[in-house]
Amino acid sequence: MGRMQRPRLALVPAAAAAAAVMLVVMLSSCCCGVSAARAASASASGAGQQRHPVILIPGAGGNQLEARLTEDYKPCSLACRVWPLVRGRGGWFRLWFDPSVLLAPLTRCFAERMMLFYDAGADDYRNAPGVETRVTDFGSTSTLRYLDPNLKLLTGYMNTLASTLEEAAGYEEGQDLFGAPYDFRYGLAGPGHPSRVGSAYLDRLRLLVESACAANGGRPAVLVAHSLGGLYALQLLARSPAPWRAAHVARLLTLSAPWGGSVQEMLTFASGNTLGVPFVDAALVRDEQRTAESNLWLLPAPKVFGNTTLVVSRLHGGRAYSAKNMTQFLRDIGFEEGVEPYRARIRPLVEALPEPGVPVTCLVGTGVDTVERLVYGDGGFDEGPEEVVYGDGDGTVNLASLLGPIKAWSDSPAQVVEVVELPKVSHSGILNDKSALDQIIRILDSINFNATTTYQSSF
Ligand SMILES: *[C@@H]1O[C@H](CO)[C@@H](O)[C@H](O)[C@H]1NC(C)=O
Ligand SMILES: *[C@@H]1O[C@H](CO)[C@@H](O)[C@H](O)[C@H]1NC(C)=O
Ligand SMILES: *[C@@H]1O[C@H](CO)[C@@H](O)[C@H](O)[C@H]1NC(C)=O
Repeated sequence: MGRMQRPRLALVPAAAAAAAVMLVVMLSSCCCGVSAARAASASASGAGQQRHPVILIPGAGGNQLEARLTEDYKPCSLACRVWPLVRGRGGWFRLWFDPSVLLAPLTRCFAERMMLFYDAGADDYRNAPGVETRVTDFGSTSTLRYLDPNLKLLTGYMNTLASTLEEAAGYEEGQDLFGAPYDFRYGLAGPGHPSRVGSAYLDRLRLLVESACAANGGRPAVLVAHSLGGLYALQLLARSPAPWRAAHVARLLTLSAPWGGSVQEMLTFASGNTLGVPFVDAALVRDEQRTAESNLWLLPAPKVFGNTTLVVSRLHGGRAYSAKNMTQFLRDIGFEEGVEPYRARIRPLVEALPEPGVPVTCLVGTGVDTVERLVYGDGGFDEGPEEVVYGDGDGTVNLASLLGPIKAWSDSPAQVVEVVELPKVSHSGILNDKSALDQIIRILDSINFNATTTYQSSF
């Protein structure tokens, strides 16, 4: 347990306000890393043609979404009927990320278009009526690197990493460097429950991995996944037969993967997470954030957090909630709609954290204050927490979640596990911090070095 402070907020998925923070992070991070990268550029060049292809799988906020509206769309205001004024071919426009979400009347349009609905009959999530969405540039790193992939003016959150791979390790876009963006609002579900959008993404990702290997002399790929991307990558591996994994994936390299969720997610559900951005309506943001299936996926997992008290509610007579009390917590915060999908779809998914079945290297930031317990007062959950207790983690994900499941995997003799701790590196800082980028290059070099020697001779 750490000291107590006022809430201090960091990156969570599907937050309208997160956009503002990300924008600042992205703008300020546009040009660092390059010179360091150049200095190291000799390191991997020897591997030359022998590189294992790299597939970048972003975290939630690093993806982009386009939308278009059909006749079924019921705008909540005149502004939402006409906004955005300029739309592309077929009526498509950028839904996430678009800076106009920060203007109050447009935040509402954004929220109603981003919301997902759980269809109990179909047992699956779907978009809001009249809102079609799509992920563009699948296979390329373009939407991960630029806020506007067409103009390439504002750099996005994976730009430094992708540029470092190019400049320090000689990777080439489309040749041995690929990106796998996805609709980050959706998730996956436990066995027997459909996840149309999430499963379609895994199929696409599987084909991308296969074609990347084929284009690189059959060398298996390295999956480099940030945050939520790590959970998707793990599910891809767990849902693929062992011979497929052995033939197609040389290594899973995760950056800040929240294996067991994060306590901060409970703050998002209870009172909204405006990430400290002023003038953003927390209740509006919260209602939108609650509908994202991926946010349910990121709630603290019972397997990792056990009986530890994570939230206390004075309004409910000092009721204490652990990760095992999540359905009660969802009820008490007034989100009854989330109870059934959480219970049926998400809990079985997070209870089974299968080992990846390929060598895994986990880079984790530590030593950054991370929300560990929230105390809500007599005013209830809407008022925001009265007290926040911080503990160890990467500022977003708790240490227990970053490391717990890996320890379990390393007990398995067949599972190769490597953990690299990066002191004082934050959840999204891991994509820009020099010590993190150096480690990523070192790890890829060692894999590629094997490719030119032992690996090739065994092929
Ligand atoms: C957690 O609580 C349950 C029920 O209260 C109890 O049976 C179990 O032993 C506890 N587990 C730990 C690790 O304390
Ligand atoms: C939380 O779950 C435990 C059993 O794991 C139970 O004993 C306790 O009453 C529950 N608390 C709430 C607030 O539901
Ligand atoms: C390189 O190959 C050796 C021997 O096959 C293996 O033990 C080691 O884990 C490999 N290293 C990497 C980084 O893949």
